[in-house]
Amino acid sequence: MNLWLILSLFTSILAVKDYLFKPCEQNGFCNRNKHYSKNVESSPYNINEINFNSEGNFISGIIHKSLPSRTVKLPFEISIIEGNFRFKMNENRQDINSIVNINRYDETPKWAFINTTNDQFIYKNKEIIYRDHKVAVQFNPVKFTFYYKGKPQLIINDKHFLNFEHQLLNDSDLLPFESTYNTNSDDFPDSKNDKLPLGRESIGLDFTLLEFNHLYGIPEHADSFSLKDTSNSEPYRLYNVDIFEYETNSKLPMYGSIPLLVTSKPEVSLGIFWVNSADTYIDINKGKDSSLVHFMSENGILEFIIIIEEKPQLVNYQYGKITGFSTLPNLFSLGYHQCRWNYNDEGDVLDIHSKFDQFEIPYDAIWLDIEYAENKKYFTWNKETFPNPEKMMSVLDRTGRNLIVIIDPHIKTGYQISDELLAKEITIKDSQNSTYFGHCWPGESVWIDTLNPNSQSYWNNNHLQFMKNNKNLHLWNDMNEPSVFNGPETSSPKDNLHFGNYEHRSIHNLYGLTYHESTYKSLINRNSNIRPFILTRSYFSGSQRTSAMWTGDNMSKWEYLKISIPMILTSNIVNFPFSGADVGGFFGNPSKELLTRWYQTGIFYPFFRAHAHIDSRRREPWVVGDPYTGYIRDAIRLRYKLLPVFYTSFYINSINGTPVIKPIYYENLDNGDIYDIDDEFFISDTGILVKPITDEAESKVNWIIPDDSIYYDFTNGVLSGVYKDREYGLGDIPMLLKGGSIIPMKLRYRRSSKLMKYDPYTIVIALDKDGKAYGELYVDDGESFNNDHAFIKFKFENKKFSYCIDGDYLFKLEKLIINGITVTNFKNNTIVDFDIDYHDEL
Ligand SMILES: *[C@@H]1O[C@H](CO)[C@@H](O)[C@H](O)[C@H]1NC(C)=O
Ligand SMILES: *[C@@H]1O[C@H](CO)[C@@H](O)[C@H](O)[C@H]1NC(C)=O
Ligand SMILES: *[C@@H]1O[C@H](CO)[C@@H](O)[C@H](O)[C@H]1NC(C)=O
Ligand SMILES: *[C@@H]1O[C@H](CO)[C@@H](O)[C@H](O)[C@H]1NC(C)=O
Ligand SMILES: *[C@@H]1O[C@H](CO)[C@@H](O)[C@H](O)[C@H]1NC(C)=O
Repeated sequence: MNLWLILSLFTSILAVKDYLFKPCEQNGFCNRNKHYSKNVESSPYNINEINFNSEGNFISGIIHKSLPSRTVKLPFEISIIEGNFRFKMNENRQDINSIVNINRYDETPKWAFINTTNDQFIYKNKEIIYRDHKVAVQFNPVKFTFYYKGKPQLIINDKHFLNFEHQLLNDSDLLPFESTYNTNSDDFPDSKNDKLPLGRESIGLDFTLLEFNHLYGIPEHADSFSLKDTSNSEPYRLYNVDIFEYETNSKLPMYGSIPLLVTSKPEVSLGIFWVNSADTYIDINKGKDSSLVHFMSENGILEFIIIIEEKPQLVNYQYGKITGFSTLPNLFSLGYHQCRWNYNDEGDVLDIHSKFDQFEIPYDAIWLDIEYAENKKYFTWNKETFPNPEKMMSVLDRTGRNLIVIIDPHIKTGYQISDELLAKEITIKDSQNSTYFGHCWPGESVWIDTLNPNSQSYWNNNHLQFMKNNKNLHLWNDMNEPSVFNGPETSSPKDNLHFGNYEHRSIHNLYGLTYHESTYKSLINRNSNIRPFILTRSYFSGSQRTSAMWTGDNMSKWEYLKISIPMILTSNIVNFPFSGADVGGFFGNPSKELLTRWYQTGIFYPFFRAHAHIDSRRREPWVVGDPYTGYIRDAIRLRYKLLPVFYTSFYINSINGTPVIKPIYYENLDNGDIYDIDDEFFISDTGILVKPITDEAESKVNWIIPDDSIYYDFTNGVLSGVYKDREYGLGDIPMLLKGGSIIPMKLRYRRSSKLMKYDPYTIVIALDKDGKAYGELYVDDGESFNNDHAFIKFKFENKKFSYCIDGDYLFKLEKLIINGITVTNFKNNTIVDFDIDYHDEL
């Protein structure tokens, strides 16, 4: 490719517009499913055969799809997985002469789930009974009604949108209301080379949610927290793409997908987990009494899981038992991350490093984007700019700092790594089963196929050789949608092939997960006792187990700061809490005020990193100058003071899925006015309530108080009296603390989280109306997988403070702050003996 072509390619990418991405109408399967839903007269799907196995944990049967000329037999299965209803439906297809695996893809759970154990249940009188749940099964046409707390909560196929596009034997093998739009070809300009070797294979289904009006989840979209009605707009789309300079308030797809939709009302919370990794659209229609959700996917088997519980936290718990909880992060990764595309060389890195100390601002990791490698050949260093990376890392290590470098899945052609990928045949293939070549940052590239089990050992070796035993070196996996600059919708052609001869079409949304999980395994292989840190841009259900994510390439504008909060809240309520947005915005140059407010918001992102585009001016915290630098310093230091709170919240998330930043409706489902609040949130169950200022020149905050508890002013993390309306100057971070909470903090300034390890705790206590308060703290070494830890419960009752320690770990008290009054005269403030219940009474 000549220079002119490359330049024009970049111009077109920088100017991404809607036209690059397929609207529903031009995406064959979405168009056909919408047509079906508008025209269906009666559902042709009937249960013909149903068998309940003798172990009482499995139903199998056949659903008949009745065509004018014949009947299509579709095998289905029902089971109860970790206490939740699971349905699967497949098709036995006739063999055709094709390179492509003709079976519908059914291995999405292999990547997304950790557990597929079937529970026992009862099936009689066309009713499935498990725990305190009941599902009524209608045979003709097939329909499921879910009961919980004695009332119907969800009906499936009530609207007859169930659509399973069977393998066509000839062109007349269709129902009158089935469309043939783009069945064997694609007329979207960017993807008209798609060979669609298997023709149409889509699936669709409707879910009627009774008396539910607030729906959330199905990230990633740059849109409101509460999902919108799509009757008069595009459906939400899940299709992992590199959406440069994305627009806000859009239903366009983004970098990652989690096909979990959640909803709550008083007494009942519900999750629909649509287990499919292909291109997917979701239509939402909010009626007066119920909401209708229509899922449509391009191919794969039809599979979904229904979770119904009383509280939203329990939906998180059930979903986490299936897909895994997030692994407790390495403590350093909850500190502040300093990134930019790019720090130029070792001198630049060490200069930035020492400036943090000069300006007394803590940080934990400095990052290197693509320019550190020689000609963007991953697993190499540019020898001119980084002649001695080991030495640089050891300097960082002296103050507990880490280095994070990028390794992407596109591998430049013409050097050892890509030569070996080709020789080992572990690349993504084109539709003819030859290696696929495309363009990305390094120019012509090939992509590792991390669905191929043979790729792991090779990937392990590369990481071992490159990273050696530098313990403070961690990784960033970007561009893993995968981003392909000259591919359709900036990604891989759908008819490319992966291991097992499956089309890319079937696995598109989980490729990013397979890539960062492969990296995770390589890091564990390198050192099995350090918790790896990996940041991924693309993700799927299950990604929470091994990575953090960020919201991609946003702009230095107020609207992007504002929308970062609903996006990160959404990620948190679908069990992927370790999320953040680029502080300062990726593209452009933020004003001093915007940068300050962005830091003050960013300290509450579970993943807290500043990042900037190569064309942006330098904007490290000291560049803006005082008073802004001082405000930013205070904000970052507040994050460090709250590290015990964040670490404990992550620990709790790792065992039960409670969001690390939590929407306020979780706190009080009976308050109908707070369901859609998306600019205010709690930190887990700690009682810390935050409402960042995301408007220019704003000094007021319109607090929404979720319940009738006392709330205290906790501005800048300093507890004062009961909260009242007030002004928030540019140095102020609006926070409240709910009465009844006890917060563990570490108040001393240190250069990094590691250097805070032995610091004593300050315990902040905000009493409720009865003079009581409770709180928790989790402590361990912060970096290894060994199990030494302590879980400490604090309580304040009857004017006495006490705590109990479960486990075995260092815990030292410094002082208490009770309703703003500091107390230091303990009877005994030394290190506590273990297994001793409630002591240290005041
Ligand atoms: C495609 O190539 C791989 C080796 O790269 C081989 O294992 C596989 O069988 C091939 N598929 C077909 C259908 O030829
Ligand atoms: C899967 O679930 C079963 C039953 O709940 C449990 O015994 C088992 O330990 C779980 N396995 C994993 C890998 O979590
Ligand atoms: C199409 O296939 C159906 C089912 O096999 C068959 O009954 C019908 O005769 C075929 N029609 C044509 C036009 O070949
Ligand atoms: C990044 O930019 C997009 C703009 O399209 C915005 O919607 C998104 O919220 C921004 N990300 C964050 C989280 O700031
Ligand atoms: C503090 O309490 C522990 C446990 O009750 C006790 O073993 C220790 O001697 C006490 N230290 C002082 C200084 O009283």
